[in-house]
Amino acid sequence: MSESTELEGRRFPAPEQLAGQANVGPDVYERAAQDRLGFWAEAAERLTWAQRWDEVLDWSNPPFAKWFVGGKLNVAYNCVDRHVEAGHGEQVAYHWEGEPGDTRTITYAQLKDEVCKAANALVELGVQAGDRVAIYMPMIPEAVVAMLACARIGAVHMVVFGGFSSDALASRITDSGAVLVVTADGGYRRGSPSALKPAVDEAVGRTDSVRNVLVVRRTEQDVAWTEGRDLWWQDVVDRQSTEHTAEAFDAEHPLYIMYTSGTTASPKGILHTSGGYLTQVAYTHWASFDLKPDTDVFWTSADIGWVTGHSYIVYGPLANRATSVMYEGTPETPHRGRWFELIEKYRVTIMYTAPTVIRTFMKWGEDIPAGFDLTSLRLLGSVGEPINPEAWLWYHKNIGGGRCPIVDTWWQTETGAHMINPLPGVTSLKPGSAQTPFPGISAKVVDDEGNELGDDTTGLLVLTEPWPSMLRTIWGDDDRYVDTYWSRFGKQVYFAGDGAKKDADGDIWLLGRVDDVMNVSGHRISTTEVESSLVAHPAVAEAAVVGASDPTTGQGIVAFVILRGSAEDSGDDLVKELRQHVRKDIGPIASPRQIMVVQELPKTRSGKIMRRLLRDIAENRELGDVTTLTDSSVMGLIKDKLPAGS
Ligand code: WTA
Repeated sequence: MSESTELEGRRFPAPEQLAGQANVGPDVYERAAQDRLGFWAEAAERLTWAQRWDEVLDWSNPPFAKWFVGGKLNVAYNCVDRHVEAGHGEQVAYHWEGEPGDTRTITYAQLKDEVCKAANALVELGVQAGDRVAIYMPMIPEAVVAMLACARIGAVHMVVFGGFSSDALASRITDSGAVLVVTADGGYRRGSPSALKPAVDEAVGRTDSVRNVLVVRRTEQDVAWTEGRDLWWQDVVDRQSTEHTAEAFDAEHPLYIMYTSGTTASPKGILHTSGGYLTQVAYTHWASFDLKPDTDVFWTSADIGWVTGHSYIVYGPLANRATSVMYEGTPETPHRGRWFELIEKYRVTIMYTAPTVIRTFMKWGEDIPAGFDLTSLRLLGSVGEPINPEAWLWYHKNIGGGRCPIVDTWWQTETGAHMINPLPGVTSLKPGSAQTPFPGISAKVVDDEGNELGDDTTGLLVLTEPWPSMLRTIWGDDDRYVDTYWSRFGKQVYFAGDGAKKDADGDIWLLGRVDDVMNVSGHRISTTEVESSLVAHPAVAEAAVVGASDPTTGQGIVAFVILRGSAEDSGDDLVKELRQHVRKDIGPIASPRQIMVVQELPKTRSGKIMRRLLRDIAENRELGDVTTLTDSSVMGLIKDKLPAGS
């Protein structure tokens, strides 16, 4: 038996002590199964509503769901004010640590003041409920404050990851019609200040909806300034009153848009609303991580530019009155033990991160975590891609000291919150499997026709009942919403785009995307997006992009390009230039690991590029079936281009 098969057979029962006092016990599944809507209504009771709902779910017009119909609440009030009112103002909301080592401790009372001031500033700038506000920020507390200030006044935030290019920012501003951009002069990454404002200037110059740019001073670097449009956060926000009365909004009031890659070149604006979203992020954060607000110190290592940051750095933890760690920089700055140092320093009890990070730590070696006191940890989480059993076990042993359960959480930008994961006080864990649909969630594995498959089979993952934190639509494009997610198996079945296997016990194993979406270090990037960027370069005639498996990042981007006649002899410099071009066009995370210049691409008779074959080449596998190729000698030509020895 190989090491990994052996690991796959191992079980890790819930630690007795944890099971004995876990927030949720085994009965939760039964309860949710008997009365799914009642279960979610009970979860919603954990929030503070200005007006109770009349109906838990309106699913009369699928796939357009309404949750907690008639209910009203203010999301920011739920995340901040109510904890202060209940006497927890002095509790730390965030232990923030900048990459250079500067720190800020922010209590719930201070967070409330900051959010109120920012809300007053937004109002002064003419931002109204329903307006969109773009947020393009480093990982600093003002990013959270800006999000909550939007939520407080009913404006819809649209956070763009700070690593994205000005082009990516511009297209998102245009699609969402944002009236304000909140940004910073820059942030710290890998030991030096990196700039953000120039990308904003470029992006805003090409759009026409933005009236103001609000800039947080973080690095003190010089920035270009457009009088009348640009304003310093410190000038506008700091002088505001700390009093702001939160208005209650409808449960279905839009909370945020988050763009994510799909199978076409243009990213989709996933729309999340208020009551259902907050209900499910808060409940899952509490149940999946067994969060004890009085004693835990919780750390999600993601960037707030991704959904993981929205749901499990901001909304879930704050709604539950958690104390969180927030860190600005990279794990290797100024040394490879930085994260472990932070766990030791803040006595982190729950750590939530991605398999790609674990594999990087594995590469660096177990001596590094061994040099720190990690005994405060009691629970670990994983998200973003399947965690291979070897990484699971390494995480369990070298970070969790062999005592912490690992909660592997499957979910998506679209689902808003955890959907398939073990419960730490209940489930006997299987390394590598996300195992069980969360209580109140109906997930199935089906064949191509939508028939449910029995145990021990492989198929497609679908969700067969609506859930509170589901996306409501794609911003401005209801048809695309229906086509993308709710047409393959009819309007009642959500097609997730992931392959999945059910094992003999009925546990679910996620197998990666079945569409043309790549997963690089837990980030979703569409092959088409990178292809269109490449062909936009004057030297490129045609491009095909695949995600090839990569030991650290999960998948790596490999591009095959056919050059235009005039560019054919340009060699290595051109490859470098193309990589740079994609970096600039989309962002560094989309820059191909490898670019191969080829004469032809393998296509089916109907002209579709056979990515499967290209993936075989990129992963150095024996070629699969090539009988549907128009010209099977194409593959020989491509193989000749491979570097020697591969
Ligand atoms: C993948 C991130 C296996 C999956 C929250 C999904 C996972 C996509 C897991 C969503 C996991 C995420 N096991 N695969 N625990 N978590 N995925 O929108 O392919 O950035 O469809 O949301 O990541 O990525 P997204």
